[in-house]
Amino acid sequence: MQILDGQTTSQAIKDALKIQVAQLINEGKKVPHLAAVLVGNNGASETYVGAKVKACAEIGFKSTLIRLEDDISENKLLGVIEDLNNNPEVDGILVQLPLPKHISDENVINAISVAKDVDGFHPISIGRLVQGLPSFVPATPHGIMLLLEHYKINTKGMHAVVVGRSNIVGRPMSILLSSNTNPGNCTVTICHSHTRNLKEICLQGDIIVAALGKAEFVTADMVKEGAIIIDVGITPVVDASKKSGFALKGDVKFDEVAPKCSFITPVPKGVGPMTIAALMKNTFKACVENN
Ligand code: GUN
Repeated sequence: MQILDGQTTSQAIKDALKIQVAQLINEGKKVPHLAAVLVGNNGASETYVGAKVKACAEIGFKSTLIRLEDDISENKLLGVIEDLNNNPEVDGILVQLPLPKHISDENVINAISVAKDVDGFHPISIGRLVQGLPSFVPATPHGIMLLLEHYKINTKGMHAVVVGRSNIVGRPMSILLSSNTNPGNCTVTICHSHTRNLKEICLQGDIIVAALGKAEFVTADMVKEGAIIIDVGITPVVDASKKSGFALKGDVKFDEVAPKCSFITPVPKGVGPMTIAALMKNTFKACVENN
């Protein structure tokens, strides 16, 4: 069993980007600039956005964090996005999800300029991805593909079972794994809360991507010997032995599943850091393409 180390892989990608930014500066070109919009004070969102801003600083990107009150109107938020769309200083825009209930995710995502849509959530970005056209790829599935690539895992012909059908992870993941790319070229089954015989389907997976958001859901009896396990989950679970009072758990019961696998991502330090690395790559791409 080999650990797919998201921490060191992400660091390698960020180090490479750092060199590319230095080259841009040498050539007198614009430095990539990410604008992150955070509405309200959801603790997890604060952590994720904080990590994104920190990664920008580490690489040499500019970043702007726009904090907005929880009760901001949808119209005001759309106005903020419009300003960012029209600001030539800003290359990439992300609005951290989830948004408060009174704001439509759909309206907000649709308002982001496709050229600055570094999250790849805009329907045009997703449509282009589905058609195999160049587009921004949502950061978590993009990061997973980068991790498979980094470890030179040849997925051609494998059966990939994706558990979870969210727009952010499961659905784009299924598109990427089935694409005519390397990694890719998998036969993909996408499972969700209404799937029958989930255990039997998972047992057929050469790759399982667990992205359903339920702590330790995937157990050893659901995994075939030698499978590749990608764990997207990160759920805080009460743990009195930890200083913080909780531990972060993946969607996979790591201790019992790991011995059966060929490769597995840990939680933390697996998919999480790769999401950040992929977002940084998307921001660099936005800058180079728009300037
Ligand atoms: N919420 C959970 N994951 C993400 C992400 O990748 N981007 C944004 N904007 N919000 C998220």
